Amino acid sequence: MMRDVAVIGIGCTTFGEKWETSFRNLFVEAGALALEDAGVTGEEIDSIYVGNMSAGRFVEQEHVGALIADYAGLATRHIPATRVEAACASGGLAFRQAVIAVASGIEDIVVAGGVEKMTDVDTGVSVDALAGAADREWESFAGATFPGLYAMIATARLHDRSLTRGQLAQVAVKNHYNGARNPIAQFRQEISIETVLNSSLVADPLRLFDCSPITDGAAAVVVAPLERAREFTDSPVRVLASTQASDTIALHDRRDICILDASVEAGRRAFAQARLEPKDIDLVEVHDCFTIAEICAIEDLGFCARGEAGRLTEDGATALGGDIPVNTSGGLKACGHPVGATGIKQICEVTAQLRGEAGGRQVDAEIGMTHNVGGTGATVVVHILGV
Ligand code: COA
Repeated sequence: MMRDVAVIGIGCTTFGEKWETSFRNLFVEAGALALEDAGVTGEEIDSIYVGNMSAGRFVEQEHVGALIADYAGLATRHIPATRVEAACASGGLAFRQAVIAVASGIEDIVVAGGVEKMTDVDTGVSVDALAGAADREWESFAGATFPGLYAMIATARLHDRSLTRGQLAQVAVKNHYNGARNPIAQFRQEISIETVLNSSLVADPLRLFDCSPITDGAAAVVVAPLERAREFTDSPVRVLASTQASDTIALHDRRDICILDASVEAGRRAFAQARLEPKDIDLVEVHDCFTIAEICAIEDLGFCARGEAGRLTEDGATALGGDIPVNTSGGLKACGHPVGATGIKQICEVTAQLRGEAGGRQVDAEIGMTHNVGGTGATVVVHILGV
C-alpha cells in the first residue's frame, strides 16, 4: 500500500543572470529557504534528489548530488544524494523520484531540488548544450537548435491556420504580465503584442520574445508522508498524481510534430490517477520554453479541443482570473528557465497558489497541475497537487 505524500516546504532563489553567486550556492540558498519554510532541520532529511541537466557543460562540474549534499552541510550525515537528469524535465523528474521514495515508505523527509547555472558560458555554448536534449546525430548535427525545432511546430500550426501570429504573441504578453507580479522572475516588465512582433527573429517565425531566456537559478521543495505533514506545517499540499511518459527523441519521428504524445499520455494518466478531469484543475504551470509550446501543452493536456488554444489565449481564458490560468509564475518565458530547476519551480508556484501566498498574481485555487517537458517532448512529467 503506497503512502500519500505532501509538499511541506518550498524555496526558490531569484531567477536571472546571477554573476554574484556560484552553482553550489544557488542550490544551498534554495534548499535553506525550503527547509526554513517547512520548519525542518538538516538533521531530519533522509535524502536529496537534484534535478540538473548539464552542469558538466555549463560549469564543468559533474557529481552534482554529492556536491550539493556536501555544501548543504550534510556530508558527515552520509545521506543518499542523487542527481536526476531528463534535460529540461530534470526538475519535475527529481520531484517525482522524491514522491516515489516517500510513497514507497523507504524514505520520510526528502528534499527535491533543481539547479542550473547557464550564464557562465556564452550563448553559443548554452544553445549547443541545450541541443544535446534533442537527437544529436539526426537533429543537432544537422543544424537544428531548440528554437529551430519549436519553430517547425509553430510554422506547421500557422500554416494549417489553427493559430494566428497574434495569438502566439499573446502567450508571451500574458506570461510577462504574470512575471511582473512574481518577485523571483527574471523579466518583470509587461510587454505588448508589438514588443513580441518587433523583437529580433531567432528562428522564423519565433522571435526573441517567443523564447524562454538563458537563466541561473535553483528551487527546492520538502516532501513528507501526508500522515506526518502536520508535524511540520499547517498547510500541507497533497500530491494527487505523479506521472511520466516518454516518446521518440527526434521530432521528425513523431506521428504529428504538433502533438506531444508524451504530454497527452502523462496528462491522461495523471487525471486517471487523481480521478479528476481538466475542468477540475484551477491553475496549471505548463512548459512554455517557446510560446508555441504553451499552445501545444494546453491542447495536449485536454484543457481545450485541438486548434482552440490560440483562441483561448486571445480570449483571456488562460490569464489571471480566466477559466484556467496558465503559468501564473510568468512561465519559463518571463520567470526564466534554469533548465534543471524549472520543474521544481513549477511545484513551488502551484504550492504557493494553493496556500494563498502568491501575492499580486494569486488566483482562486484548490487543485493545480504542473507539466514539465524534456527536449521536444521525449520526456514529460506531470503532477497534480491539491489542498
Ligand atoms: N526574452 C526577452 N528578452 C531576452 C530574452 C528572451 N528570451 N533573452 C535575452 N533577452 C534580452 C536580454 O535581457 C538582453 O537585454 P538588454 O540588452 O536590455 O540587456 C538582450 O535580450 C540580449 O540578451 P542576450 O543574452 O545577448 O541574448 P542572446 O541573443 O544571447 O540569447 C536567445 C537570446 C533567444 C538566443 C536565448 O535566450 C535562447 O537560446 N533561448 C532559448 C533557450 C532554450 O532553448 N531553452 C531550452 C528550451 S527546452
